Amino acid sequence: MSDGTIAVKHLSKIFKKGNVHAVKDVSFDVKEGEFFAFLGPNGAGKSTTIQILTTLINATNGEVWVAGHDVRKSPGSVRKHIGVALQETGVDPDLTGRELLELQARIFGFNKLESKKRTEELLDVVQLNEAANRRIGNYSGGMRRRLDLALTLVNNPSILFLDEPTTGLDPSNRIAIWEELRRLNEVKGTTIFLTTQYLEEADALADRISIINDGEIVATGTPKELKSQIGSDLISITFPSEENLHQSKEILQQDMSEADIIETGNSLNIYAQDGTRKMVDVIRMLDQAGLEIETINLSSPTLDDIFLKLTSKEGEVQNG
Ligand SMILES: Nc1ncnc2c1ncn2[C@@H]1O[C@H](COP(=O)(O)OP(=O)(O)OP(=O)(O)O)[C@@H](O)[C@H]1O
Ligand SMILES: [Mg+2]
Repeated sequence: MSDGTIAVKHLSKIFKKGNVHAVKDVSFDVKEGEFFAFLGPNGAGKSTTIQILTTLINATNGEVWVAGHDVRKSPGSVRKHIGVALQETGVDPDLTGRELLELQARIFGFNKLESKKRTEELLDVVQLNEAANRRIGNYSGGMRRRLDLALTLVNNPSILFLDEPTTGLDPSNRIAIWEELRRLNEVKGTTIFLTTQYLEEADALADRISIINDGEIVATGTPKELKSQIGSDLISITFPSEENLHQSKEILQQDMSEADIIETGNSLNIYAQDGTRKMVDVIRMLDQAGLEIETINLSSPTLDDIFLKLTSKEGEVQNG
């Protein structure tokens, strides 16, 4: 039975050559229709994991189920239901985009007429109609990525695996790929497993993120959950005078603990879980007391903060 789920239990991979422990006891589940991101730096084990999940290499240990099938016992069944875009692909640069798509469709068992029809549909989807008869060798990076994406879609997969689909693309090409992935996920309900080194990419696209570092998953959660793990929003207020600052601090202290309100130079820093609401409260309290403020600023922790915290070797919080 085909479904759009992924289940990974205690997955490990040791490359004998070089004795590299690339993936260490990794477990996670992806639900049907979920957009899941594997976020990690160079050498973290992202490509190794994706190659195991897509039946291209064997695990050393652990169990992997994709689309309801065991990747080791039924690799053929898994392949029928997935689309894969790897980080490095070797294709004949003399083929045109149209020829390569037709070829891929034939490999998946479409007859000649169906292959042509499917190719035209996919050229539309990734907006490569105009470049369809040009040699792939002459495509730009962005065009190649769009073609890679079209190739993964030929067999209408229930699960898409994309290994760093936007690395090296300029912002407008990156956003075009993002929009297409969102559409596939939202409109067609395709499950997507994507790897990336870009925090803002995982944040913008994924329902859930696992952060992988040195072969291990160090955190999993929604972007919001991961951000809240590292604490609170920061409200920073400056005042027209020192007197104003001290009076304001006294008033605000009646309503919050000492640890949450810190004087730094000529401003007050206030830490709160729900910064937006707190900011409204603060402005109201100071206004009622007739105290003027000069500027007020709200900032939330970014995924950058948690990424740095979790992937720094000592596991220590970076300054800032
Ligand atoms: N075929 C192989 N033989 C030996 N070691 C390998 C092999 N493939 C990967 N490795 C090693 O396994 C580790 C994980 O590599 P992997 O390619 O999975 O990382 P990655 O997260 O995809 O990194 P990047 O962001 O650079 O693509 C690295 O130390 C790498 O050198
Ligand atoms: Mg990789």
